[in-house]
Amino acid sequence: MQVAAGMTSQQTKDVRSRGQAGAVSMVKGNPLSGVVRAPGDKSISHRALILGALASGETQITGLLEADDVLRTASATRAIGATVEKDGTGEHAVWRASGGDWLPPSRPLYFGNSGTGVRLALGAVAGAGIHATFDGDVSLRGRPMGRVLEPLRMMGIEATAQDGRLPVELHAGHGLKSVSVKLATPSAQVKSAILLAALGAEGKTRVHEPVLCRDHTERMLSAFGVSLTIIPDDCGGRFIEIEGRQKLHACNISVPGDPSSAAFLAAAALIVPHSDVTVKGVLVNPLRAGFYETLKEMGADISFENEREANGERLADIRAKHSVLHGVEVPPARAASMIDEYPILAIVAAYAQGETMMKGLEELRVKESDRIACVEAGLAANGADVRSGPDWLCVKGSNGLSGGARVKTSHDHRIAMSFLVAGLSSENPVEIDDASMIATSFPEFFDLMRQLGCSVSGE
Ligand code: S3P
Repeated sequence: MQVAAGMTSQQTKDVRSRGQAGAVSMVKGNPLSGVVRAPGDKSISHRALILGALASGETQITGLLEADDVLRTASATRAIGATVEKDGTGEHAVWRASGGDWLPPSRPLYFGNSGTGVRLALGAVAGAGIHATFDGDVSLRGRPMGRVLEPLRMMGIEATAQDGRLPVELHAGHGLKSVSVKLATPSAQVKSAILLAALGAEGKTRVHEPVLCRDHTERMLSAFGVSLTIIPDDCGGRFIEIEGRQKLHACNISVPGDPSSAAFLAAAALIVPHSDVTVKGVLVNPLRAGFYETLKEMGADISFENEREANGERLADIRAKHSVLHGVEVPPARAASMIDEYPILAIVAAYAQGETMMKGLEELRVKESDRIACVEAGLAANGADVRSGPDWLCVKGSNGLSGGARVKTSHDHRIAMSFLVAGLSSENPVEIDDASMIATSFPEFFDLMRQLGCSVSGE
């Protein structure tokens, strides 16, 4: 693995440690069966730490996802003066966050690979009115930050960034202006950054989201005592209004299981004959459940059992059994509710009969990798009939995958997990070049797959 000139010492360390990982595959074998618990939701975990660090009093968080991305957010909140500590281990771990007034950090805030962490923190730091520099790994340095910086600048924040990319310097500024913004991209990260910055602005900020995207920030702000008004527009979108200068009050958060991580386990069960897997305690907020809706349309034997409400979010135990699947057209309107699940859906589509057309995918080009390109290359190399365009991907399944090729993951955790799952039913093994990035979102991935009966080679 190459260490490029111009990297910070932290980036160099990250790249070197990742470079030690060799090729990995999951081996075709027994049916998968068992009941496992999904790891904590990544989106909710970031938000719980940030809001806990902004609130007065102690916020206790259970079920926090202890993955690299979230731990970077924990470090960043500590660097700004919040107290963030963990008591206990495993299922009994409780994270305690308390904060209030943020202080300028003495060093750049480093977010590793985490787009959610950095974009949410940009908004929160802007709202707190402190000076800070933000940075990330090579992949995060390549991702667009202008989508967050533009609305922040409209609010009166001075931000320095080359080409709208990290590193970004936010200059301390008080007297933030409230704004009315229509989101140009359906992005919960951008929406959240504006709402968090609005906490420091004078007057009412209004965000118009023409396409609904995950609403965890709005739900959690309410739990922390912030009042927001949500008004539907006439076309399926909505306006979110928030009055500035509101104080957050600590509350306790129980983080539900991550539907985006559970997706890999459910997909594995669907494609491996005679499998029957239950993933317990998964968030099934409709703004996150598009993948499961699509699987049902494909004929999957998948059900939400024991549906319940906890902390203002819907949870269920997701049971998936091996299924005979058929291709479907996935409408662009569903993209926001399953934006992270397209790579694994494309794998499932390769095991279905007929064509699965996925449209409205332009955002996949600017994720941790260009996910359209990575999925297309990996599937084609392993024998799938796959085509793509600027914002679409089409997979024509017939007899599954021949396998036999090594997939380049481009340091993208979801590409890595998707192709490991692909190899569970292929004629020949599917190898990935590097599994280390899986730790950014799903450190227990291999353990859970083994619990379900999988063998892993080369990890
Ligand atoms: C996230 C929003 C989505 C998603 C990401 C998590 C969030 O990104 O892809 O993994 O927690 O707000 P965008 O806001 O860029 O769509």
